[in-house]
Amino acid sequence: MNILLIGSGGREHALAWKIAASPLLTKLWCAPGNAGIAQDAECVALDVTNHAAVIDFCKAHKVDLVVVGPEAPLAAGIVDDLAAAGIKAFGPSKAASQLESSKGFTKDICKASAIPTAAYDRFRDAAAAKDYVRRHGAPIVVKADGLAAGKGVVVAMTLAEAEAAIDALFASAGAEAVIEEFMDGEEASFFVLCDGEHALPLAAAQDHKRAYDGDTGPNTGGMGAYSPAPVFTDAVRERTMAEIILPTLQAMQARGTPYKGVLFAGLMITKDGPKLIEYNVRFGDPETQVLMVRLMSDLVPALLASVDGELKHFDLRWHAEPALTVVMAARGYPGDYAKGTRIDGLDDAAQVEGVEIFHAGTKADGDAILANGGRVLNITATAATVSKAQRRAYDAIDRIKWPDGFCRRDIGWQAVKREREAEG
Ligand code: AMP
Ligand code: GLY
Repeated sequence: MNILLIGSGGREHALAWKIAASPLLTKLWCAPGNAGIAQDAECVALDVTNHAAVIDFCKAHKVDLVVVGPEAPLAAGIVDDLAAAGIKAFGPSKAASQLESSKGFTKDICKASAIPTAAYDRFRDAAAAKDYVRRHGAPIVVKADGLAAGKGVVVAMTLAEAEAAIDALFASAGAEAVIEEFMDGEEASFFVLCDGEHALPLAAAQDHKRAYDGDTGPNTGGMGAYSPAPVFTDAVRERTMAEIILPTLQAMQARGTPYKGVLFAGLMITKDGPKLIEYNVRFGDPETQVLMVRLMSDLVPALLASVDGELKHFDLRWHAEPALTVVMAARGYPGDYAKGTRIDGLDDAAQVEGVEIFHAGTKADGDAILANGGRVLNITATAATVSKAQRRAYDAIDRIKWPDGFCRRDIGWQAVKREREAEG
């Protein structure tokens, strides 16, 4: 099979690495890719916002399957356009992508199907929004409706914070806010493959959204992750499937917008059970990096089964060993940072047992690897325990020479703490 992967981050490097290992693969391209992905795929400088150009490329190169990594092309309807041109594409349609692109859309589905989530209201003006938060009090959560790359959410611990967030949000014209109840608990990311009708649970992971150790500092796209998530027990998974995932698939089907692709449920595991924080319509980044090293089975037939509506009798096998990934970011991320700084020692770091290095934002300059983004590398390790995987990942990081980068030193701390407690 010929496959075209769309995207350029660590998630796409992990997907490319896994797809490249498939015996079904003839040729893999990635648009636009990065210096790490270039080890597993041929990178092509396609403008993925130009769907006609993507379709032309697929026809010229006899591409059998397009795998879309990020949400933006999905929300722009690339899967619809490819399908209309007779090209198979993994991921949801534009209409189904609203589960991520519109928080209001998802909240309305939750309400109609009694899916457990935070109580909420939608607002089009600041005065009404402020009135609502004054009536409900803090802590309270203020969200912008629409794609905001993880930056559109303020968990306000005081009324003043909530009001400031509302002012900031309505400073842009046409803004719409979702204001919701604060949920207390431990978070988990759960991934499910869907084919419109059936759902195949993949695995759960936990990520670290804050930039600095001890879960402090600004929110980021994710500074590290590990899988499985200890809080996501079999019982929690069963409740999540029955109370959240399956009712969502039924609602999407009933609306005439069946959901295909990977559904990423951001969950709060509360004392009353799992509740939905939000959906994403794509694989998580950096969660995918730990999922892919844990997946024993071939990924490609599973992606095809999702596209073809054949997931009902499908199964996947997973390695029992946990995996952990640490994000190395450019100094300054998630604020301003420099591009083009040099990274050395990657080959040496890759020698550490059980370690896989995925590139998130790099470019090659001759033999040198240069940083080319905010999140730059994902040092991923598997081992018998999370504590051991953590040690391997940091051993590898200590061999990387990149003075302009930084990483958290405590990725996986919740799981490591649990392991220590279990040891007594
Ligand atoms: P989101 O972009 O919706 O995933 O929100 C970003 C982060 O804000 C989540 O990962 C949670 O840590 C937090 N968050 C969002 N909604 C809530 C809520 N209702 N209660 C508590 N925390 C929340
Ligand atoms: N790591 C969270 C995300 O991919 O949105």
